Amino acid sequence: MSATVIDGKAFAAKVRGQVAEHVARLKEEHGITPGLAVVLVGEDPASQVYVRSKGKMTVEVGMKSVEHKLDADTSEADLLSLINELNEDATIHGILVQLPLPDHLNEDLVINSIDPAKDVDGFHISNVGLLGTGQKSMVPCTPLGCLMMLRDHHGSLSGLDAVVIGRSNIVGKPMAQLLLGDSCTVTIAHSRTKDLADVVRRADVVVAAVGRPEMAPGDWIKPGATVIDVGINRIDAPERGEGKTRLVGDCHYESCAEVAGAITPVPGGVGPMTIACLLANTLTACSRANGLAEPEGLTA
Ligand code: GUN
Repeated sequence: MSATVIDGKAFAAKVRGQVAEHVARLKEEHGITPGLAVVLVGEDPASQVYVRSKGKMTVEVGMKSVEHKLDADTSEADLLSLINELNEDATIHGILVQLPLPDHLNEDLVINSIDPAKDVDGFHISNVGLLGTGQKSMVPCTPLGCLMMLRDHHGSLSGLDAVVIGRSNIVGKPMAQLLLGDSCTVTIAHSRTKDLADVVRRADVVVAAVGRPEMAPGDWIKPGATVIDVGINRIDAPERGEGKTRLVGDCHYESCAEVAGAITPVPGGVGPMTIACLLANTLTACSRANGLAEPEGLTA
């Protein structure tokens, strides 16, 4: 194995430490405490774990954390009314509505009802447009975390060939915009891409975000390329005992690590960066709301 392993867990801890320092200074110098509200509708177990983890880390960096847990059959009107209250609440700087929402709720309508300045997920159509036109926006957390790790590893990304595998609104499309913003030559590949292996082999930077376990093998990777694996897939692991499972990425880790110059592991790569960037975005939103300088190194 030759690739440098990009330690997302350590990187995320460093980002949270930077956020905590900024928060302490905001409190001391301006008497302001950033506040993050998370809204969870229904009882999806994975979402519950994720929301609990977000709440804990929000408090750990010194921010105010508010959680609203609503029944699975909550009406759209009630959810929109809560979002409106949070939009108006001056102690709340970031609002996150946990996705997916139950089927009877219109996800686009709900997300677009959040004040764009408080949209710490960066999913509001205004933020999507601002990012696409290179203007100041809120940037989706997972792609922001990937960008931070890439900038840290490479310094400048200018002129690199980047291939993003996956075209989701949450990861693939904003990731491509961010890489373009850093002057990469960007290709977005997806399930219908012809000769996917050949496309990926051209890349200096590969970001895999398709949600298909170990889809990209090592012989797709250009020697020395950087591989950022966004996938978190649970697969059966009978070798660990009956009924056991394990997490794998969208890339086949062992074979890719033999060829790549650098690679993020799963778990412990991109995953921990997502919540760290959510906290960074909440700090950014709070700074902007108060007309203060944005935290350096924590934005796109
Ligand atoms: N569900 C899974 N990931 C995310 C995320 O990043 N934001 C929101 N709002 N919901 C999610």
